[in-house]
Amino acid sequence: MRIPLIAGNWKMNTTVAEAVNLVHSILDRLDKIEGVEKLLCPPFVSLFTMKELLKGSSIKLGAQNMYFKTKGAYTGEISPLMLSELCEFVILGHSERRGYFGETDEIVNRKVKAALVNNLKPIVCIGETPEDNETGRAEEVLYRQLNQSLNDIEPIQDIVIAYEPIWAIGTGKAASGEQSAVTIDFIRNTMTKLWGKRISQDLRILYGGSVTSHNIAEFISQPEIDGALVGGSSLKPKDFLDITNQAATIKVPHTSTHLRTKE
Ligand code: 13P
Repeated sequence: MRIPLIAGNWKMNTTVAEAVNLVHSILDRLDKIEGVEKLLCPPFVSLFTMKELLKGSSIKLGAQNMYFKTKGAYTGEISPLMLSELCEFVILGHSERRGYFGETDEIVNRKVKAALVNNLKPIVCIGETPEDNETGRAEEVLYRQLNQSLNDIEPIQDIVIAYEPIWAIGTGKAASGEQSAVTIDFIRNTMTKLWGKRISQDLRILYGGSVTSHNIAEFISQPEIDGALVGGSSLKPKDFLDITNQAATIKVPHTSTHLRTKE
């Protein structure tokens, strides 16, 4: 069974005080939504406070990045060991990290390995640029990102993949539900080649990029799409609640084929 996941990536928004206000405005209602996993990824500085606020609730906590070393002289970095005390998930390889901070697939790969060693569930982001899309290279790029970011990693169900086409992030120009379902199908097929059918059927693959309460239904109604990584709309309490509610209502958890049929 793939439990749908709705994750809010707050990016570099909210002071601690603002994060507290935002959580207070959604906590009770978000907590009560059943049938989907709910995840909030605030900035590092709010993780400790958020952990306290979410205690006893059904809402999970995640970070937006980390370094791959456990500890040492790496001024300004945050380690997986530190995060493992605070949260369950970590977003890795987001296109903003790749684009603005020079993260390569090799770095993402080291981070994914380090996260898993420290019992963190990585949300590995992949996505093509507008140029890749226009020149018909999207699948080639996605294949490379998956193959290299997950290189030399034992197949494991705890990884989440987020497909975020760069041209759709923060632009208000979301991909269509059908278009992203085709790409996510390609991603799952690629994972079948890399990790085998059994695990790939159980992996959750999310869509991200200009998801709103107006278009979430289009994505979540696609059987191959297991949820959403939400940026801008996750900062708006009403919108994020609405997105999560719609996901819970529309999505019937996908039963993986290996539970039903023998391979
Ligand atoms: P927006 O929802 O703001 O387009 O951001 C998507 C994203 O990058 C989530 O990680």
